[in-house]
Amino acid sequence: MKTRGTTRGTRILGIESSCDETAAAVVVDGRRILSSVVASQIDIHRKYGGVVPELASREHLRQIVPVVREAMERAGLRLEELDAIGVTQGPGLVGSLLVGITYGKTLARALGKPLIGVNHLEGHIHAAFLEAYQDGEEPKLPAVCLIVSGGHTVLYEVKESGASAKKEFAYRKLGQTRDDAAGEAYDKVAKLLGLGYPGGPILDRLAAAAGNAQAPVKFGPVKTRGNALDFSFSGLKTAVLYHLREHPEYNEEIRKREEALHAGKRKFEELLPLCGKQTLGLVREFQNAVVRDLVERTMAAAEECGVGTIFVCGGVAANSQLRGTFEERARSAGMRTFFPSRALSTDNAAMIAAAAFPRFVQGRYADTSLNAMANMPLA
Ligand code: KG4
Ligand code: ZN
Repeated sequence: MKTRGTTRGTRILGIESSCDETAAAVVVDGRRILSSVVASQIDIHRKYGGVVPELASREHLRQIVPVVREAMERAGLRLEELDAIGVTQGPGLVGSLLVGITYGKTLARALGKPLIGVNHLEGHIHAAFLEAYQDGEEPKLPAVCLIVSGGHTVLYEVKESGASAKKEFAYRKLGQTRDDAAGEAYDKVAKLLGLGYPGGPILDRLAAAAGNAQAPVKFGPVKTRGNALDFSFSGLKTAVLYHLREHPEYNEEIRKREEALHAGKRKFEELLPLCGKQTLGLVREFQNAVVRDLVERTMAAAEECGVGTIFVCGGVAANSQLRGTFEERARSAGMRTFFPSRALSTDNAAMIAAAAFPRFVQGRYADTSLNAMANMPLA
């Protein structure tokens, strides 16, 4: 166990299996990453155009042991040298979560180490801190955090609570999507256009390649009744669908791209020549609409809460236009933005180990009754 006063720090093994990535990582004091291993299942789910829960849990079962072993090897540690095990409790797919939870529980029990249940969303927020710490920065709180991924689009205010040695983060939900998550909209639009799965990375690059291609359609700002900090992306996806239906000239290209995907050609360089100007213009307009909406509401939230720091986390935070626009807007408003790197933006276990640390310090351990919570709330 850790001896207080020594410098070796608290070593936590994080385990993540909430969706389609089996991940394990070792992080010291919630700050220093010793190892981070992610086994992605994208190749398995790709042909279905989304995550198939039954296949996901089966694959987690296959991957969990080798992934944890590799994380320990890369960290250069034996399991006995860990101080605690942090595992994602929810939100996520129950079958998938249960694989990580059962493994974590068994490991903690066998080693006689504390087990800590972690909220996946809190993990995503910690990813932004982890990134800042690697760069020698200490983000100032309070902050507003946008978590934007394939499963979530939600805004939180993040504050510090408690005395300095045992301080932890307190969250207040400010808004969330009422229908699709932003990443889900990317994935669905990419599917409509015959651009494969996941949709975010390819649409991101195609939008950048669109240049000044004429806009075949314009998408206006999304209006949400009630809470102005809520999001909605299903209308935009439907607008793309209707536009494609009304313009049969897209069909030939879509068919060619679907054939290319079928032949395993899914790289940007392979798909770009199969995209005409009209398609590129459409992709750019779609991305402009998503980015504008995410940035506008987040900036409004930051102003409303009077914070000087913005975190943007989750898979969609890897989007280059989103990053550029946030940085520009925040700079002119005198605010700081923090984005995790691409590796820390998408699901990983380093963020879970980091989020487990304050709970370890507080002694908030789980027992063997720890169970998966598909809709686990953060606030
Ligand atoms: O956080 P994540 O790995 O898993 C979930 O918890 O959902 O996020 C995956 C999502 C997918 O919907 C994917 O299309 C999207 O993030 N994504 C992107 C980009 N890279 C990944 N969306 C927009 N632009 C990107 N560059
Ligand atoms: Zn996630």
